[in-house]
Order: sequence, then C-alpha cells, then structure tokens
Amino acid sequence: MINPATGTFSEASSAEVVNARHTTCANQRLAEVVSSLVRHLHDFAKEIHLSQGEWDLAIDFLTKTGQKCTTERQEFILLSDVLGFSMLVDAINNRRPEAATENTVFGPFHVDNAPKRQMGESICLDGKGETCLFEGQILDLAGQPIANATVDVWSDNADGYYDVQQPGIQPPGNNRGVFVTGAEGRYAFRGIKPVSYPIPDDGPVGQMLRHLGRHPYRPAHMHYLITAEGFQRLVTHTFVGGDEYLASDAVFGVKASLIAPFERLEGRDTLWRSPFNFILTPA
Ligand code: BEZ
Ligand code: FE
Repeated sequence: MINPATGTFSEASSAEVVNARHTTCANQRLAEVVSSLVRHLHDFAKEIHLSQGEWDLAIDFLTKTGQKCTTERQEFILLSDVLGFSMLVDAINNRRPEAATENTVFGPFHVDNAPKRQMGESICLDGKGETCLFEGQILDLAGQPIANATVDVWSDNADGYYDVQQPGIQPPGNNRGVFVTGAEGRYAFRGIKPVSYPIPDDGPVGQMLRHLGRHPYRPAHMHYLITAEGFQRLVTHTFVGGDEYLASDAVFGVKASLIAPFERLEGRDTLWRSPFNFILTPA
C-alpha cells in the first residue's frame, strides 16, 4: 500500500519518500544521520543534474577505491583527506581554546608501539637528510609544564618516504620514536629537517587529483601525537616555514599556528634547530 502521507517516488518527493522509511528506526541517531545524508545526496544530484554516465563513473570510482584498500592502504581515508573532509571532521571534534595547540590530520603512517627512545636521542636511522634538533615543552593552558607526557613523533626520510612505505629499504622505526617528558615537561630529539612529499597517488584518488589538475604534495612536516593524563589527545604536525606547498597542501592540514621556526645552526654537528612548545587542553 502506498503511504498517503508521502505519496509515491518522484523527482520532487524523492528524499521525503525515502526518509519516511526511517521513522520507525529504533536507533534515533542512525535515522538522523542517514536521513540527512539522503536529503543532501538527493539535493546534490538535482543541483548538478547528475547524468546516468556520471553515476556509472562514480560507482566505478568508488568500487576501485574500495578495491585499492588493504591492511596497509586506506584509499577511502585518502579520498576523505583530499576532499578536505578529514580536516572538517577534525575541526568539528577538536574545538579548543585559542591558546591551545591546534590539531591536524592524523595521516596513514603512524605506527603503534614505535620505538621508545631516550630524551635527546636521534630518530633518524638511515643517515640521510639534514640533521635537526626538535625541542620544546609540553605545557597546560596556564603555561605549567606537563610531566610524563608521551610524545610520539614520525616523519618522512630525506627521499620523502615513511619507513612503512619502504620495508626492506628503510630500517624499521626510521624517523619515528616515542619520548616521555620529565618534570619540566621538556622534549628533545634529533631527526631530519623533513621534506615535502606526495601522498600515495598510484590509485583512484591520485587519478582523480590529476583529472582535477591538482598536485598530490604535502608541505614538509613533523608529526606529533601527544598524550598526557587529564588532557585531550593532541594529533598535530609542525610545518617547515617557507615550504612551497604550504598554501596548497593536498590534504588541507596546514594551520598558520603550526608553522615552526627552523634555525640554521653554525659550527655544530646538527644543522638545524626547530623549537616548538605544545599546549594541551584539559580533558
Ligand atoms: C601524512 O601526513 O602522513 C598524510 C596525511 C594524509 C594523507 C597522506 C599522508
Ligand atoms: Fe606526513
């Protein structure tokens, strides 16, 4: 029987008719999310007058995106990243006081249980790149040091690849490490001045970027995952100032407050120093 309240399916009534099926859903949030998605999706198709050929192409693209996924490769997250969707979700979920360090995209190259290292130790195991001392403090909003904070860091190597992208070429744990702050909340480690690199672009997302006339590069950055009891987890990067891709990051991760100084050191074994303090928000 046709529901007299919503009528039959037509171009004009499409979203309303579909969403009428969700009124008895026991999970209210699910019904809200799916109904909103249906509304926006139907409006989108009407606004652009989606052709049958374009619908076919979209299905093929999404199929290939799924087929590209493995335990090491998440092409759907990459799609979300290049559409700015990951950064939007991140922004919605990490509204913080002005003084707090901003979040940015997590990315696919974090490794659980990275090597624990002593404060000041080098994370660079392949001997490539321009050496850099990263140092600073982990602070609360009042400027007080946070002791016992875990500072998990990772970056690409001088060739623009993470260790996990080059098993058998780079030593495992290259350019990554976990440090724990002492009483003054200080961290310090040696790494390399990171270089800009392309996100994995040998799949459907890379092909889409090429069709759109977009490049796949991310500006040079060091990743940080900082956790401390009683504080919100901070997922962020520091960016190398002056990088040519700062204004066109393929995944929209750049925030002005995260551009760090990189000072050239003269007459020292280490070529660069990048000081940066991180300010955590209470949980
Ligand atoms: C990264 O910075 O490691 C990254 C982030 C998003 C997509 C690909 C890579
Ligand atoms: Fe990265």
